[in-house]
Amino acid sequence: MKDLMQQEPLILGIESSCDETAAAVIRGRELLSDEIASSAATQAKYGGVVPELASRAHAEAVDEVVARALKNANVKKEELSAVAVTYGAGLLGALLVGLSFAKGFSYGLGIPLIGVDHIRGHLAAAYLEDKTLEPPFLTLLASGGHTAILYTERADKFRVLGGTLDDAAGEAFDKVARVLSLPYPGGPHIEALAREGNDVIPMPKMLKGGGGYDFSYSGLKTAVINYVHKMEQSDLAYSRADVACSFQHAALDVLVKKTMEGVRETGARVVTAGGGVAANGYLRERLTRACREENVRLVLPAKKHCTDNAAMIAAEGLVQYRLGNFAPLSLNAEASIPLHRSARL
Ligand code: KG4
Ligand code: ZN
Repeated sequence: MKDLMQQEPLILGIESSCDETAAAVIRGRELLSDEIASSAATQAKYGGVVPELASRAHAEAVDEVVARALKNANVKKEELSAVAVTYGAGLLGALLVGLSFAKGFSYGLGIPLIGVDHIRGHLAAAYLEDKTLEPPFLTLLASGGHTAILYTERADKFRVLGGTLDDAAGEAFDKVARVLSLPYPGGPHIEALAREGNDVIPMPKMLKGGGGYDFSYSGLKTAVINYVHKMEQSDLAYSRADVACSFQHAALDVLVKKTMEGVRETGARVVTAGGGVAANGYLRERLTRACREENVRLVLPAKKHCTDNAAMIAAEGLVQYRLGNFAPLSLNAEASIPLHRSARL
């Protein structure tokens, strides 16, 4: 058994696409360490992520975060099989910090470099949650940059059933939060406020029905902004908690509804979720209930593996390690990667 364990690849994952500097070590699908340093508190003062501040924070933190990941995993860097790093999509300066560091590590140690597409990382988080999980499965991906329903046919390939037409779900949470004077990132704050309110404010119908699998959040976002402005301009009292609750239900119910339509269309027997919005308790509850009713297995990554982290980057690194898909040292950072390009390795 011990020999078998030792044959499992030992992978260091590094993530620096936005405001989180993260590093994690996995042995096979076993998570040995999972470290994160966030500059979110600094960024919160500015109501969003300031790219230059993010890059600087990564440069200051990356050394120490990686060292901590190795130490807490009780692993020497010479034992590593490969280093996996996010090369896109994200803030270029921020990505370059993690990518340059990973290149140095891979070159210095003579081990393969694996370039990970951030979105594929979000998908791979489910592999850590359920060590028996294998494709095919259907994924609800909802982050700050994407809202999509994806069908993973094989480890190296997924099909896009539908995607983001305008604002992504997380982006809508962040913008509505700003209107409600809540800090950045808005998702967790809206979720907390929504618990104190009721779903009593009418929201645009289109999001509750609608055909196809594509998602449009700009109408919902505008409706909320208009409601708040109208109430404030007319000096009318309104409940911020009711706004948060009504918005949250409208924004998330549609995700569950379309995911279940995707289940029926593809015949998928397993559903997974990923991306920061998948950390939302209301969404998790609704998805759990819907999957139970439809009799499909649901694999929900831990909340800390839905928001940005390096464990998911290491997990996707493992997929690519097994496929022998290694990157040259000339690998460059990419600010945006269209979903259809993420779909195949
Ligand atoms: O996946 P992620 O950490 O970064 C991106 O790849 O974009 O997602 C960040 C997004 C933010 O828009 C944030 O407000 C949202 O996920 N988010 C949430 C929650 N936690 C984070 N949205 C709703 N409810 C949450 N609990
Ligand atoms: Zn992300």
